[in-house]
Amino acid sequence: MIEDLVRKNILTLKPYSSARDEHSNDSGIFLDANENSFGSTVDGQFYRYPDPRQWKLKEKIAELQHTELHNIFLGNGSDEAIDLLIRVFCEPRLDNILIMPPTYGMYSVCAAVNDVQVQKIQLTKHFQINTTRVLESLTSGTKIIFICSPNNPTGNLFSDKDIELLLQNFSGIVVIDEAYIDFSNSLSWITKLEKYPNLVVLQTFSKAWGLANLRLGIGFAPEDIITFLNRIKYPYNVNGYTQQIALQALKNIAYHDKMVEEIKKQKEVLTAGLSDLPTVKHIYPSSANFILVRFENASFVYEKLIQQNIIVRDRSSQPLCENCLRITIGTPEQNNRLLAVLQEGI
Ligand SMILES: Cc1ncc(COP(=O)(O)O)c(C=O)c1O
Repeated sequence: MIEDLVRKNILTLKPYSSARDEHSNDSGIFLDANENSFGSTVDGQFYRYPDPRQWKLKEKIAELQHTELHNIFLGNGSDEAIDLLIRVFCEPRLDNILIMPPTYGMYSVCAAVNDVQVQKIQLTKHFQINTTRVLESLTSGTKIIFICSPNNPTGNLFSDKDIELLLQNFSGIVVIDEAYIDFSNSLSWITKLEKYPNLVVLQTFSKAWGLANLRLGIGFAPEDIITFLNRIKYPYNVNGYTQQIALQALKNIAYHDKMVEEIKKQKEVLTAGLSDLPTVKHIYPSSANFILVRFENASFVYEKLIQQNIIVRDRSSQPLCENCLRITIGTPEQNNRLLAVLQEGI
């Protein structure tokens, strides 16, 4: 039972009920939320609070992902969902989450902010899940396992069999972060939501949809988990402009697909160009919109690139990532410039 995993104070919490939760028709004389009835100084459309449950946007997402409205949570980036999941399930100072470094940094930051312990089980040298060690390390206080697939910063997908093994043998919450799934050739784990009551899948509009600035993340999960996330979120966590633009974006799936294809193509071009350089020791295969590259001397390359105003991410301090830079796939012009600088100066 999911309720057995939820913190007691959240189980008994009476959530804030916002004005727009109670009355949300499009027409009417709304004198219930202390907005400015005269409008605003900038544009006529922003003086009302946005839809707290983002129904129109969820309808479109449900249609696209063949899922139901009650299986969708929308947040201020998927970072919000990560934070809320920890707050719903993890008792500060008592419970823990399990992560598999090298991986996305916000899982441990959100845990630390909430005073929740982090168990770290390093990936194998092939960047796969060390399932034996993960299963051995689970304690009664382990509430969430975060699995990032495709993984940031390594770029690879984890084996389906390994993920399934964890889903079957862990009774806490398994979060699969699919921020980069659109760039992979793999199916989303959303299709397994009915099979696993403890599964949460995270996706985002920040990557393939190209809307990082708007801050919109999605959590897909069984209805009871979604209900708890909604219970503790800020009432108007996704602003109206974001809802409006995301709806517009969802009407142009062909353009999304075109960008994804172009990024995949550019990934091949960049990979080929980099593999000719003597300073490049290894390029890890990637199912994401970035590649992890091992250099002879990563900090030297990093500094040289900065001097030319090209900024990449130095991941050398992460376990298994010594001398590695993470490079986002750019436009053809950006990638050519990167290659030219690397060819000339290093
Ligand atoms: C694996 C992963 N998850 C989540 C996020 C955050 O996404 P959002 O912009 O939706 O908060 C990122 C951002 O880089 C990421 O790499």
